[in-house]
Amino acid sequence: MKNSNRLAAVIITALIFIAANVAMAQKAGGAWNIPANYKTKKSTVKAGDPSINTVGKDLFAKHCKSCHGAKGLGDGPKSATLKTIVPSFATSKFKAQTDGEVYFQAIVGRDEMPNFEKKITDDADKWAVIAYIKSL
Ligand code: HEC
Repeated sequence: MKNSNRLAAVIITALIFIAANVAMAQKAGGAWNIPANYKTKKSTVKAGDPSINTVGKDLFAKHCKSCHGAKGLGDGPKSATLKTIVPSFATSKFKAQTDGEVYFQAIVGRDEMPNFEKKITDDADKWAVIAYIKSL
């Protein structure tokens, strides 16, 4: 009787563990549906602009690093608490996107990717942080 109780306890513990892991599994966000008026937006911050590694870097540290990680690999401390996988900026697929596509993702966002329209209001600041993440 004692042994079978112990076995039952082990089985129940294992089932709870499996169920918790299934419930917590993160999902990839999937393709973005970028509105046409965003796709064609052009950055006002050119490659090599000094604002990228000053303003852009500071804004990233303040608003983005907690989820996206210091190097933009998607491994910030908050990333593990989300249902959606935080994607890496260090892929050629990410960098191949137009400025306007990244603008929509970074500033408008969706679901667990927050909206920054009210937190980063200056246009040049928005483009500086966008250029910064594309440089990671
Ligand atoms: C609370 C966590 C969190 C914060 C803070 C955050 N992000 Fe995100 N970000 C996400 C998640 C999660 C996704 C994936 C969303 C999806 O696919 O639905 C994402 C996706 C993105 C993408 C799209 C990447 C791709 O390849 O699909 C960009 C660009 C982006 N974030 C930029 C930023 C910038 C810039 C900031 C700061 C101004 C920021 N994020 C702050 C969680 C965050």
